[in-house]
Amino acid sequence: MAKVRYPREGLEVEVPVGATLLEASDAAGAPHGDHCGRVCGCSTCHVYVLAGAALLSPMERDEDSLLGGAIDRKASSRLGCQAVIEAEGEVVVEITDESFETYLDEHEEDAERALALRGLV
Ligand code: FES
Repeated sequence: MAKVRYPREGLEVEVPVGATLLEASDAAGAPHGDHCGRVCGCSTCHVYVLAGAALLSPMERDEDSLLGGAIDRKASSRLGCQAVIEAEGEVVVEITDESFETYLDEHEEDAERALALRGLV
């Protein structure tokens, strides 16, 4: 198992090795957008990996290419639907503002909880 923490939302979850960061977010109830059906087609699942990047699968060319168009890309950037947890340990994730806003757009029913997680209401 691996632990994934979301300090900005005060969440954490344990997931099996083999899960993607986006699947970890689902399990944690983290407000993580995913517009394209998780097929490396949109970049709305963009996160910053604050710790534990070495536990993740290497970045493939398609992921790198998509992130190349992101204005807020950093060295720690990954796509949550493409980054697979490959070893036990702890990964610390920051969901980007773009991904958070996508989540709000696509989950109106959960918007109040998501906003509260970030202290925005
Ligand atoms: S959900 Fe679209 S690239 Fe990850």
